[in-house]
Amino acid sequence: MQGKRVLLIVGGGIAAFKTPELVRLMTRAGLGVTTVLTEGGAQFVTPLTLSALSGNPCHTALWDLTREAEMGHIRLSRAADLLVVAPATADLMARMAAGLADDLAATLLLATDKRVLIAPAMNVRMWEHPATRRNLATLRADGILTVGPDEGAMACGEWGEGRMAEPEAILAAIRAALAEEEPPLRLTEQVLRLPPEAAVQPGPAALPGPLSGGHVIVTSGPTHEPIDPVRYIANRSSGAQGAALAAALRDLGARVTFVTGPASVPAPEGVAVVAVETAQQMRAAVEAALPADAAVMAAAVADWRVVNASERKIKKDAAGLPPTLKMTQNPDILAWISRDAQPRPALVVGFAAETDDIVANATAKRARKGCDWIVANDVRPATGIMGGTENAVILVTDRGAEHWPRLPKDEVARRLAARIARALEGR
Ligand code: C5P
Repeated sequence: MQGKRVLLIVGGGIAAFKTPELVRLMTRAGLGVTTVLTEGGAQFVTPLTLSALSGNPCHTALWDLTREAEMGHIRLSRAADLLVVAPATADLMARMAAGLADDLAATLLLATDKRVLIAPAMNVRMWEHPATRRNLATLRADGILTVGPDEGAMACGEWGEGRMAEPEAILAAIRAALAEEEPPLRLTEQVLRLPPEAAVQPGPAALPGPLSGGHVIVTSGPTHEPIDPVRYIANRSSGAQGAALAAALRDLGARVTFVTGPASVPAPEGVAVVAVETAQQMRAAVEAALPADAAVMAAAVADWRVVNASERKIKKDAAGLPPTLKMTQNPDILAWISRDAQPRPALVVGFAAETDDIVANATAKRARKGCDWIVANDVRPATGIMGGTENAVILVTDRGAEHWPRLPKDEVARRLAARIARALEGR
């Protein structure tokens, strides 16, 4: 921790009396400490005490800083490696959760680009109040770290959870926060890189056939979107239809790049397999496989991923609060390859799993995504298609909708591959 700088914000609660001891421990551990007192905090501890112990001035008012031409509050919040709020009162937590900037402390917390650790301290009823629960959940979802509160006797005479963590425990949490040098969203960036097993495994030379010399990309299977290193969000796609299509295209002589999520059926022999996990990886793998004559997007790509995926396994919370997962939209690979890919494959085929108004929805999807064909199927549970061995599809092209009979997925794949070969004929 030697040489790291911490900005300590002291809120207005009785637990503020422990902060001089915290400052002493921090400076002894080699940390550079700058302090900020809220108006309430100044009722419990004096600026003189904090500045004497930290060896740095203690800031108390927003206007002292904003009067400076160079936006002192921004500078103050950025100069630190970590912001610590101790005690974090119910009021300060509420203001942080709402994104208010109505005093120096709140402004610094809003202006910072650094990690923030809070040590909540309040009466047990205030801690248990649904409003505080909501605010805590919001702050956690924003990536704010917490330490405590502890259970025990309170200054108000009650007993329960709400005592500020002891200075030693806060110091340990500071040490842990500073040790994690990267911001908490690193897992999301890591998963963008393709896993080592994604390396393309080349298939044997393509067989002679109507698609000889052609290259087709097939996406297949579900995607897994991580919550933390051991948990993920997924869907029930088996990857059976995609695998059957890749095999059928291979049998017609195409060189096939098979980009597959974690499917429950094996990849076919004789195709180049790229194994991915997430939608972002799948998008990158499809792009890397271009150019192609045709792209058949049979994967059930997750529409959303977790933005605040944790680098470490999320632990059960002592206060019984479940984690809040923040989601964001995944790239739409089909829409991207249809509209923006360079070079765009001559034929792009999308899939649509529908439960109602199949033709109307598939026709609208074809237009929305910009693909050439949509292979639509009825996935109402009663059909047994999702995860089953048969499929009843409707092929939507620029000429309208063709209803195919219910057939084994292998046969659907053979017919579709033959149609693809006919469409690419003469190219
Ligand atoms: O948008 P929706 O999931 O209904 O569309 C299904 C089609 O879009 C499938 O072909 C699927 O592979 C493709 N898709 C995609 N990327 C997404 C979502 C869907 O390629 N993010």
